Amino acid sequence: MKKDILQAPFVKEMRAVTANMYRLGWDERNGGNISYLLDEAEVGQYLDLSHVLREIPTGFSAKPLVGKIFIVTGTGKYFKNVDGDPETNLGIIRIKEDGETAQLLWGYKDGGKFTSELPAHLMSHMARLSVDPANRVVMHSHPTNLLAMNYVHELDEAKFTHTLWEMCTECIVVFPDGVGVLPWMLCGTNEIGEATAQKMKEFRLVVWGMHGIYGAGKTMDETFGLIETVEKAAQIYMLTCNRPRVNTIRDEEMVRLAEFFGVKYRKDFLHL
Ligand code: 13P
Ligand code: ZN
Repeated sequence: MKKDILQAPFVKEMRAVTANMYRLGWDERNGGNISYLLDEAEVGQYLDLSHVLREIPTGFSAKPLVGKIFIVTGTGKYFKNVDGDPETNLGIIRIKEDGETAQLLWGYKDGGKFTSELPAHLMSHMARLSVDPANRVVMHSHPTNLLAMNYVHELDEAKFTHTLWEMCTECIVVFPDGVGVLPWMLCGTNEIGEATAQKMKEFRLVVWGMHGIYGAGKTMDETFGLIETVEKAAQIYMLTCNRPRVNTIRDEEMVRLAEFFGVKYRKDFLHL
């Protein structure tokens, strides 16, 4: 007898985080998507893993992820609706032996499929797992202030990171590895997926110019917290950028923070 999938901790986490992100105004309409690498034995407590509902081609190769199981938001689905109807708005997929097919194990009940940004998600998982085997979550969102900042701040990753670090004392401690930045690119493509994954080898946060942000982490909380901290810093920037700057956090102070909290930070993003 299998347990009720709606009671699975990973389904509860997906419901809670999408509701939270919607409430914060980061994920209008179908904006944003999440993928979460699951433990096979844990999923097996809820689903018959030999029962494939449908096979869906992905359009790219993800060989290192063969056999891996993910819960993924559906394309065109609204974050505001996930909590009320997880089985329609979410799906659980396993990557087939060919590396290019998703086997649907649960969800997408209305005949839907995984997010159009699956290339960026799975390629980012591959990139992050290669540098951090504990990585589990990839999250994409359109946070309001971060997006606004994209229009008024240079899209240079050293400068963008430095400005964010200046906006809240906690920033250099929370994302000492900085923020990668991509120019505007066509979304939903393998190309933007490859470019994102390339950045993900170095950064856990990647800004998509004039579009939004990607975050990656070991847990849902860590990943959400990364994006939340960037968004807070971007908000402070947007509240202050057209006023004279009287005070700031100086680079020497950021060094003291990084050293006190023992984080490995991008020294080349500071002007020491
Ligand atoms: P999906 O609805 O396909 O997940 O796309 C939303 C989005 O944010 C595209 O970048
Ligand atoms: Zn998007």
